Amino acid sequence: MKKLIPTTAIAALLLGALPAAQADTLKMECNVSGPMKPYCEYVKQRFEYETQHKLEFLEMPAASDEKLSIYQQIFAAKDGNAVDVLSVDVIWVGLLDKHLLDLTDKVKDLEPHFFPNNWKNNIVDGRIKGVPNNVDAGMMYYRKDLLEKYKEQPPKTWEELTRIATKIQQAERGAGQKNFWGFVFQGKAYEGLGCDVLEWVASYNGGNFVDPQGNITINNPKAAKGLNMAASWVGTIAPKGVLGYQEEESRAVFQNGDALFMRNWPYAYLLTQADSSPVKGKVGVMPIPKGGDDGIHAATLGGWQWAVSAYSKNPDAAVKLVRILADEKTQKTKFMVTGEAPARVAAYADPDVQAKAPHLAQFKDVFANAVPRPSTPTRSQFPKVSKVMFNAGYDVLSGRSTGEKAVAEVEERLKRIKGREWK
Ligand code: GLC
Repeated sequence: MKKLIPTTAIAALLLGALPAAQADTLKMECNVSGPMKPYCEYVKQRFEYETQHKLEFLEMPAASDEKLSIYQQIFAAKDGNAVDVLSVDVIWVGLLDKHLLDLTDKVKDLEPHFFPNNWKNNIVDGRIKGVPNNVDAGMMYYRKDLLEKYKEQPPKTWEELTRIATKIQQAERGAGQKNFWGFVFQGKAYEGLGCDVLEWVASYNGGNFVDPQGNITINNPKAAKGLNMAASWVGTIAPKGVLGYQEEESRAVFQNGDALFMRNWPYAYLLTQADSSPVKGKVGVMPIPKGGDDGIHAATLGGWQWAVSAYSKNPDAAVKLVRILADEKTQKTKFMVTGEAPARVAAYADPDVQAKAPHLAQFKDVFANAVPRPSTPTRSQFPKVSKVMFNAGYDVLSGRSTGEKAVAEVEERLKRIKGREWK
């Protein structure tokens, strides 16, 4: 038996493998028990084959704000066993800064491959804290077949969308589709509603709540108008149940053929085109409408980044994993499995990507010009700011407040959070 040991060691060296004793087990965030499974498994296979380490998964809730509080607990406990590589929302990078490993020297060579605004978002005080995974910007999905049937064009403004949705909802119900709705979006009080609210406000030129210099700008009539417009949809062209919808609930209604318009992120497209989808081949995508003719097409900037926990016990292996996650093949696999818009620019010229989502290439500009939530100017106080944003949206949508009252209250609340300055 003794003779076998050196032989195995030599074989391992020849194969470039690490001796078994040094194989580490890493934990990466990936929801392997859901539709992401093939992607999680692809990553596991590559990582284990290429590094001889083991990979396990950490499953997380879908809502960004719920995920954030779990990570904040893990980080407060400096827990090095809970996670090595995590997925960080575009709005958290500054906030989680001190809990994320400095990746500057390990990944800076990757910069030219990514969208510049996404890449820059991950730099805090000159240090790279994450590598982009996917880019997100709000989009409006519509039923091509129904707009054609009723001889309507994709609407350019919220006013037009409201008119068309009212008309087609009534006609489809009259034709026997009793559960048909004009428009579904994210109306639950969580981070996703904050994204929709920002689009309504910004599309009427009502600003970003807080400007890049940290000034609170929300208390203005244009912002109030955007909120009032959204409130007018609930119970008319949108079901009251929209007040409990996250992204996936909106998609379920739209994909079932029960809605004309849906506000969502890029991922939803591929799922609506699955063979089992009742709306396969019937879906168009357009920019978020403007608030009136003088408004702008405002898409909230979203997206996720891969980062390494500063408490990881295996930082070198974790960096290897991040580099696998960020490479061309993995980015494409992720798109094919999840439909998430790739963060690598070259993916948009890939024939397979173009064939699956022909509209994506046109959305490159929308990604590049998307409206950021005020996470940078409000610094570590952004989670509180975000709660004020989505709670105000919820109050207006549910009829407890009006646009005018809400923007005045939001201003007061934000002033209290800010104090003398954002910190
Ligand atoms: C998407 C976006 C993310 C946002 C979240 C809200 O995942 O990428 O930035 O916070 O939706 O639900």
